[in-house]
Amino acid sequence: MARSALLNVMVQAAMKAGRSLSRDFGEVQNLQVSLKGPGDYVSQADRKAEEIIHAELSRARPGYSFLMEERGAIEGDDGQHTWIVDPLDGTTNFLHGIPIFAISIALERQGQIVAGVVYNPAMDELYTAERGGGAFMNDRRLRVAGRSRLSDCVIATGIPHLGRGHHGKALVDLRNVMGEVSGIRRMGAASLDLAYVAAGRVDGYWEDWLSAWDMAAGMLIVREAGGFTSDRTGGQDILSGGSIVAGNEVIHKALLKTLAKPV
Ligand code: IPD
Ligand code: CA
Ligand code: CA
Repeated sequence: MARSALLNVMVQAAMKAGRSLSRDFGEVQNLQVSLKGPGDYVSQADRKAEEIIHAELSRARPGYSFLMEERGAIEGDDGQHTWIVDPLDGTTNFLHGIPIFAISIALERQGQIVAGVVYNPAMDELYTAERGGGAFMNDRRLRVAGRSRLSDCVIATGIPHLGRGHHGKALVDLRNVMGEVSGIRRMGAASLDLAYVAAGRVDGYWEDWLSAWDMAAGMLIVREAGGFTSDRTGGQDILSGGSIVAGNEVIHKALLKTLAKPV
């Protein structure tokens, strides 16, 4: 499948970082890890992948700004474009040898996400989307699932853990949703949760307390697969607000309603 020059740059950077992560994933027990917070690890693999992505994208598009999980914000002189990067989404899975992790790269142009790549090297699954160009996994076009009843749906989410998120609020949400669906899944990588909505593997997804780099690429991939994404109020304050709800039009709306139920 012919990709645009822009998407090719993003895919090459993701694949190169993916080769590095695959090597490290194979020897994860030897990795130097330093505790970044209870239950949250920054691994050597994480930083190496970020260095590779930063070098590749800086060379291909000099002057673009960056927002990267480990390095933070890096201002470029272009002023119009920002790369939003999570070099290793699903770090805890990675360090436990669970093959559900991904590199997530998005490009924001004048405040709009125009391209996204989510790549899981362990499963060799490359999700891509450009604004207006559709969503693909390994060059196969993606479409969100067509289920229209929440009771038939499998819904993905994130569950807070030691030192992360508001446990009481999460329990209220879980109780409300579990009473209305066929199943709930906690994969451990938000970018893949969104990619799985786009691929129709899960029918919907919601999560709070996320960062822009967790969601930016996956959000576009869902939309380009015919899905809907919003914050919990149904608005578009997603990347700065840290909450996302995703699904096809009917399920997205049904999830918003269920999540709005009082305690
Ligand atoms: C985490 C994953 C996880 C989500 C956490 C994120 P990280 O990203 O996306 O699924 O529940 O909130 O921090 O830390 O592995 O890059
Ligand atoms: Ca992440
Ligand atoms: Ca990360």
